[in-house]
Amino acid sequence: MFNVDPIPTDTTGTGGNNGGGSGVLCDADTTYFANQILPMLISNCTESGCHNAQDHEEGVVLTSYQSLMSTVEHVTRTDWDNNDLIEVLTEDDPDKRMPYGKPPLSQTQIDLIKRWVQQGALNNGCNENAGQCDVTNVKFSTFVQPLIQARCQGCHSGSAPQGGLNLVGHANVKTVADNGKLYDLVTRTTNWMPKGGQKLDDCTTMKLKAWIDAGAPNN
Ligand code: HEC
Repeated sequence: MFNVDPIPTDTTGTGGNNGGGSGVLCDADTTYFANQILPMLISNCTESGCHNAQDHEEGVVLTSYQSLMSTVEHVTRTDWDNNDLIEVLTEDDPDKRMPYGKPPLSQTQIDLIKRWVQQGALNNGCNENAGQCDVTNVKFSTFVQPLIQARCQGCHSGSAPQGGLNLVGHANVKTVADNGKLYDLVTRTTNWMPKGGQKLDDCTTMKLKAWIDAGAPNN
């Protein structure tokens, strides 16, 4: 097996890295190397005997942005006949066309690569979960409070709250937000909160994290 590089950190300021859950949104108008191009290259071009780090057929390695750029020539060119990547994918002669011995990539796949090149062939990536999950402007009043009320206050309220923790009101919630327990307890893989209940979904925990990262404001 070859190693797949982690989603790269974008240094161009245009794409953003995966944000580690903080939510660089996937923009529908942008083509992302880490999310769309690299997975395509990996599934079509890097199987055993082909363009992976061990076999590097023809000196070409397609397992990361760095290896693509350093082993295939002219990937950034938009005069397609002179772009070696596009050239081998669209070659008429099946003996020269890639993926070797397999059907050509679809027009949609090739168009996607071309669009990525036209946008600068950047080493960019985005957080796909964040794409369907709006983590901007998360408010205590409209998101956190109703969530805690629905999922936590059954146990964490009253004169003898469970775990000795009262979660009614902003100040109490902010205490566990600021000391890290709130996020830790809802994301751990065993013994998570809500105790004995269904785990909060990814989007919910990302929104919660965004609010915590913003300083757990009473907004
Ligand atoms: C069914 C009851 C129940 C529900 C629902 C529940 N908790 Fe708890 N919680 C507990 C108990 C009991 C403890 C004490 C530790 C233990 O037994 O795991 C605890 C402990 C905690 C702690 C640690 C307190 C500390 O100081 O160490 C936090 C934070 C917490 N819960 C947050 C939450 C949040 C956030 C929710 C909702 C998403 C939630 N809990 C839902 C019962 C519950």
